[in-house]
Amino acid sequence: MTVRRVNVVILVLLAIAFLIILHRNLLNLNDFLKQENPDSVPDGPMVLPFETDLLSGHKVIRTGDEIPVLITAPEERLGAAVTAMNSIYRNSKANVVFNIVTLNESVVHLRTWLSKTDLKHKIIIFDPKILAGKISNDPQKEAAVKPLTFARFYMPVFLPDAEKAIYLDDDVIVQGDIRELFDTSLKFGHAAAFSEDCDSSSSKGMVRGAGNQNSYIGFLDFKKEAIKKLGMRANTCSFNPGVFVANLTEWKQQNITSQLEFWMEHNAKEDLYSKTLADSITTPPMLIVFYKHHSNIDPMWHVRHLGATGAGNRYSAQFVKAAKLLHWNGHYKPWGRTSSFSDIWDKWYIPDPTGKFHTIRRHTEEK
Ligand SMILES: *[C@@H]1O[C@H](CO)[C@@H](O)[C@H](O)[C@H]1NC(C)=O
Ligand SMILES: *[C@@H]1O[C@H](CO)[C@@H](O)[C@H](O)[C@H]1NC(C)=O
Ligand SMILES: *[C@@H]1O[C@H](CO)[C@@H](O)[C@H](O)[C@H]1NC(C)=O
Repeated sequence: MTVRRVNVVILVLLAIAFLIILHRNLLNLNDFLKQENPDSVPDGPMVLPFETDLLSGHKVIRTGDEIPVLITAPEERLGAAVTAMNSIYRNSKANVVFNIVTLNESVVHLRTWLSKTDLKHKIIIFDPKILAGKISNDPQKEAAVKPLTFARFYMPVFLPDAEKAIYLDDDVIVQGDIRELFDTSLKFGHAAAFSEDCDSSSSKGMVRGAGNQNSYIGFLDFKKEAIKKLGMRANTCSFNPGVFVANLTEWKQQNITSQLEFWMEHNAKEDLYSKTLADSITTPPMLIVFYKHHSNIDPMWHVRHLGATGAGNRYSAQFVKAAKLLHWNGHYKPWGRTSSFSDIWDKWYIPDPTGKFHTIRRHTEEK
């Protein structure tokens, strides 16, 4: 064939491809408009035209700077991490790289599961020995402590080349584009940005009787000398460290990891945390180290307490749909028996190819 003929053939092929894409997008747009019909039941995140392509399994070309996300994967909840990561990937075209921290015993299982997905990831093995002397010696308490919850304290160790990174708990679902969260600006001198517990949207889900869990007094024992000496105000609004954006350059400069370790060791000796501490044991040292020294993330990027009550959580379906990130902190997990909004979680779930992880559902037959 001559060069001219080849050019003509290429042009024709391009034109056909363009028409196909146009046609598909119009169809998708049509679906999209239908979804906006007020009669239809709102269930889950709005599907944008380009997302239907993502859902249908088309390969998304991810370019640009990497967005590092750190997440942990304990053996009994590998399904949580996989589902959270899938929700992030399907809702963004960003070049996300998941850094999954897990225990040695879970590596093979996790690798098998991830081989069924297209999630770009690195697996990092956490050695619990690093926590020796930093968590209580009381054997009963120690059994209750899950070593991976402390992985977030060691972010710069796991991500030595990153300047900025996101940490997420495994019991979240992301409905927005993760790039938006990553673009949260941190004030000069701040090593991290969190969502405060007094934000109107997050306190909406608070349960009565959960104690004073939106200020420092709910997490720290202000009768202890070591805490008193810090001069912190007990009624300062606390924040939830289950979702944060970090500047790891600042983190290293301020030795945040050593500061956190200092308070862990101190607590192991003197019990500095509140007796009624209901939430994560990682919260109190973070509250001390970041006292009045952190930036804020958009509250819609951390809508939480979905696991505080079972089905019947007081958030409206519309509010949950508008949330960019949902967090099932609390007792009732979305893969468990009775949890609110577990249908949203189910949408992003990728079944375990080894069959070890199951969701527990009471009413599977009815659906
Ligand atoms: C990690 O697990 C593998 C088997 O999965 C085992 O062979 C290896 O010895 C373990 N390594 C450590 C440091 O425990
Ligand atoms: C992180 O902090 C360093 C040191 O303050 C600063 O130079 C840098 O611009 C910050 N990076 C981002 C992405 O905010
Ligand atoms: C952090 O640690 C280094 C080395 O241990 C020390 O030189 C530096 O002064 C510390 N910085 C702060 C802010 O504590």
